[in-house]
Amino acid sequence: MSNNIHFIDKDWSVLNKLVAENNYSKLIVLVDSNTLQHCLPLFNPVLEREFQVIEVEAGEASKDLEICAHIWQEFSEEAADRHALLINLGGGVVSDLGGFIASIYKRGISFIHIPTSLLAMVDASIGGKCGIDFLGFKNQLGSFSQAKAILIHPPFLATLANDEMLSGMAEMLKHGLIADKKHWQSLVDLDHIDLLNHSEIIKASINIKSIIVEADPFEKGERKKLNFGHTIGHAIESYFMAKDKAIKHGFAIAAGIMCESFLSFKLGLLQQNEFEEINKVLRAKYQQLVFSKAEFSSILIYMQQDKKNAKGKNQFTLLHGIGNAVINQQVDEDLIVESLVYYCDSEY
Ligand SMILES: NC(=O)c1ccc[n+]([C@@H]2O[C@H](COP(=O)([O-])OP(=O)(O)OC[C@H]3O[C@@H](n4cnc5c(N)ncnc54)[C@H](O)[C@@H]3O)[C@@H](O)[C@H]2O)c1
Repeated sequence: MSNNIHFIDKDWSVLNKLVAENNYSKLIVLVDSNTLQHCLPLFNPVLEREFQVIEVEAGEASKDLEICAHIWQEFSEEAADRHALLINLGGGVVSDLGGFIASIYKRGISFIHIPTSLLAMVDASIGGKCGIDFLGFKNQLGSFSQAKAILIHPPFLATLANDEMLSGMAEMLKHGLIADKKHWQSLVDLDHIDLLNHSEIIKASINIKSIIVEADPFEKGERKKLNFGHTIGHAIESYFMAKDKAIKHGFAIAAGIMCESFLSFKLGLLQQNEFEEINKVLRAKYQQLVFSKAEFSSILIYMQQDKKNAKGKNQFTLLHGIGNAVINQQVDEDLIVESLVYYCDSEY
């Protein structure tokens, strides 16, 4: 695991040491309305220096340019200088937003992620991607910027809602599918709530992601493996967001995994038995997202905006067997539509 990722049980000395060694001019903790209530009280006693708290509303709508402007204004009014430290205490929304805000302010100030949702622990906080949504498109504005440290404290998960645990589990299942069959197998029969008692499985997922992003920090090759399930998943997520019916990121990714497993199977990369296994597992864990065939064209429009496209063509990461991903696969639109039909017609 990367040496800036620390698992913390009770001893937070790594945080206090880092703060003391770097002599930061000011500490600012970014929270959302839920982490203010549930996580800040646990965090308050562990940080040995005074800090200022900035709160945003919980939810994806906070990954917004106006919110950034508001926080940059607050930083400026509070005279935060280049040696200030931003601590992002929250889920993926707080880490994406806080990382982006820190990476731009005065050409970049230091930041630490303390992820409090499962999805942020295993995915969003790892790898240096930060950003906000723009004009209805997910993560349209963003930067690559590495956190000074990422501190994983699984006890924060005790107050996380059940469906948020399930959302985070989708990314863990993806990690198994793209890189480690054993990890997939350790998850298939596990209830998402039981992850609270299995921090070693959470650690294994973080390990998979951190190895991949370290090998390819700027997504030139290997890192694209992590995009499995995301080309279609992100388009579905953006589409629902535009309809004002936001769905959880992991639920959209679960749908994307089903569709992109279909593509992998149809292109002869994935055996039928593995394709059926994946879909059985996902159908058992995730409720079907409801959209009609009349909505496919709108979802395809979101896919055209995908940052992973090259020369106007969709670039997919597909599965070459469970535990193995292949990148840069171009897929005809007809087959993409077929995968959406397959998803919508699947029996749950
Ligand atoms: N940068 C990346 O590499 C990356 C990767 C995956 C996802 N993401 C982004 O992450 C976001 C999704 O992350 P998320 O699922 O964590 O969403 P989130 O940050 O909205 O958190 C989910 C909900 O759980 C609440 N919450 C968080 N921790 C809690 C706790 N310990 N107790 C009680 N409530 C808590 C939050 O307030 C929120 O209501 C999306 O914006 C997605 O685009 C980024």
